[in-house]
Amino acid sequence: MPIKKPNPDTFVDWFRSSSPYIHAHRGRTFVIVFGGEAVADASFSNLIHDIALLHGLGVNLVLVHGARPQVEQRLKAQNVQMQYINGLRVTDDAALACVKEAVGIVRVEIEALLSMGLANSPMAGARIRVASGNFVVARPLGVRDGVDYCHTGEVRRIDTDAIRRQLETQAIALIPPLGYSPTGEVFNLCAADLGAAIATALGADKLISLVEGKGLVDSQNRLIGNIIAREAEVMLASQKDLAEDVVQYLRAAINACRRGVRRIHLLGRELDGVLLRELFTRDGAGTLITAEPYEETRVACIDDVGGILELLAPLEEDGKLVRRSRDLLETEINRFTVVERDGMVIACTALYPYENESLAELACLAVHPDYQNSRRGESLLQHMESRARSLGIEGLFVLTTQATHWFRERGFEALSLQKLPMEKRQLYNYRRNAKVFFKKL
Ligand SMILES: CC(C)(COP(=O)(O)OP(=O)(O)OC[C@H]1O[C@@H](n2cnc3c(N)ncnc32)[C@H](O)[C@@H]1OP(=O)(O)O)[C@@H](O)C(=O)NCCC(=O)NCCS
Repeated sequence: MPIKKPNPDTFVDWFRSSSPYIHAHRGRTFVIVFGGEAVADASFSNLIHDIALLHGLGVNLVLVHGARPQVEQRLKAQNVQMQYINGLRVTDDAALACVKEAVGIVRVEIEALLSMGLANSPMAGARIRVASGNFVVARPLGVRDGVDYCHTGEVRRIDTDAIRRQLETQAIALIPPLGYSPTGEVFNLCAADLGAAIATALGADKLISLVEGKGLVDSQNRLIGNIIAREAEVMLASQKDLAEDVVQYLRAAINACRRGVRRIHLLGRELDGVLLRELFTRDGAGTLITAEPYEETRVACIDDVGGILELLAPLEEDGKLVRRSRDLLETEINRFTVVERDGMVIACTALYPYENESLAELACLAVHPDYQNSRRGESLLQHMESRARSLGIEGLFVLTTQATHWFRERGFEALSLQKLPMEKRQLYNYRRNAKVFFKKL
């Protein structure tokens, strides 16, 4: 596929806006799972190009693929059908032969696409090494409710050392839905469960599952941007019209979440570039599943300094906030509270108590422009008010140049400079001429 020419104006903005994500993802480990449907699709090479780009940006990648349509095609040619009992497949001898054949072919196809390096193609200069192997130890599902599931298996152990060694050499690990037992047998595994088991065992930073259709939608067919594992469980139990693969991936996601994988993404693979949209844009393109809420308000730590500086810089430039050096911010970081959304600081504020007067200054209240007007400023103010109260503070004051009305509408009243604590008065910058507002708590 030839490289499309981007519009230079939007391209520069777009590329700059994705830079925090490029830094955030470098050196991380992502497990990406996709079904045989994705491999069979004419647009599969686009997905491979996006995977190659992620690899080029320094992400450690483990790819787990399914092969269901390819297996079914082979079974059909032999006039046999895969049997499903209680939602589980029964892999008899004939089915296992088809699984081995289909998995082999799918693997070769993926390896071939990842090996491309044609000039003027998105793969030019990529030079990717792919590593497959006996990374998965499996055991038979056995006989359940009287049904012998034959060669259908479940994961017993993942050889994480072997996978990590491949990742350390910058290879992409490609893992088929097969597992091997110490008795030398081969077992047919479910790709969704395998992906979750690998992500858990590796302690991966993300598990990304590409599903058929639009992805995880609510009862009105609207894409769900993020959901916590507990809500996803309720959804599984109550929403009966979820697609079969979505149910499988969602169940695996909840398990992985419970076992410590912090971010799990469910993406509708049919949207071109869904992987890049999800990973490099603020609002993503699929569903993020986390154990804890996706956005949290918490006390800042030293690792937040970079994010806070980035948030404050344009506001300082505009004269809305007083300039703060990195050194000062590092010294005063424990005074800050941040709102973190998917690893990015999108709002912050700081509390400077004056204990003798039972007062505190609320400073540096800032919400990133992309997230303003959604009551984040207000809820951060409420959060700080209750924090101040718990510290025995009886009143908050702010110095502001361009948000006077915002504070007035939230119960603050103008205060004469003379009423400020002496220490603060001495530091008042007359050239800046900020207005002082006060709220009794
Ligand atoms: C002021 C600020 C923190 C508000 O955050 P926010 O999350 O957008 O605020 P909320 O969503 O809680 O409130 C939005 C409301 O405030 C209004 N508002 C936003 N900024 C305002 C301002 N500077 N002056 C007056 N009203 C303002 C909006 O119009 C909206 O009102 P509406 O819904 O009636 O139209 C944010 O605009 C900001 O970061 N500004 C730049 C930094 C700054 O000036 N900080 C204060 C100095 S300490």
